[in-house]
Amino acid sequence: MKEIKFMGKRIIIFPGVYEPAEDSYLLIDAVMPIASGDVLDLCCGTGIVGLCIANRVKSVTSIDINPIAIKNTCENFKINLVYDKLNAIVGDLFSPLGKVKFDLITMNPPYLWEEEPMDISWTGGKKGREIIDKFIINVGKFLKKEGKALFIQSTINDIEESLNLINKMGLKGKIVMNRKFLFEEIVVIEIAH
Ligand SMILES: C[S@@+](CC[C@H](N)C(=O)[O-])C[C@H]1O[C@@H](n2cnc3c(N)ncnc32)[C@H](O)[C@@H]1O
Repeated sequence: MKEIKFMGKRIIIFPGVYEPAEDSYLLIDAVMPIASGDVLDLCCGTGIVGLCIANRVKSVTSIDINPIAIKNTCENFKINLVYDKLNAIVGDLFSPLGKVKFDLITMNPPYLWEEEPMDISWTGGKKGREIIDKFIINVGKFLKKEGKALFIQSTINDIEESLNLINKMGLKGKIVMNRKFLFEEIVVIEIAH
């Protein structure tokens, strides 16, 4: 089993679960300074985003569609002694949640074009926007009045389209962090009421 150390945390990576990469680390950089209260981490993978902020927040609800990722998240919270903060659920984005609101919502979604064979860690459907669009359309219902949602997006799937959709949903959106790579730029987009 692969294991890494990040920000003083031990992170085990189960086979078949997304190994934390530059996009994970960029989201964590953006989230750290504002992490507080009740947090929802969508598309949690190993659980790394919630894990890095677990000590400074009240609770972390982690959701992933892959049951192995949820087992992996539970294990990582256990070995880092923050399991009491965690509510880990298998599910499709917001669908397992009832009427509940969060102070902070984070998401590092799969955003590559659909390929065969389909890998849910990487591919976000047609144009890579399926998860991103679903997220933007629904996030307002789960965000407290003063809450913030931060998610990762690449220039390969039209950042302007996301900002327009956020606007159309009556929310405010802006880019708060970015990092350039060889073929793309990855940004963190913040959404607020
Ligand atoms: C790029 S990985 C990010 C993992 C982790 N948050 C990180 O930053 O390292 C994307 C994750 O989204 C999950 N996923 C894909 N489709 C999903 C959906 N519809 N609802 C919830 N999770 C989903 C995948 O299983 C995968 O763990």
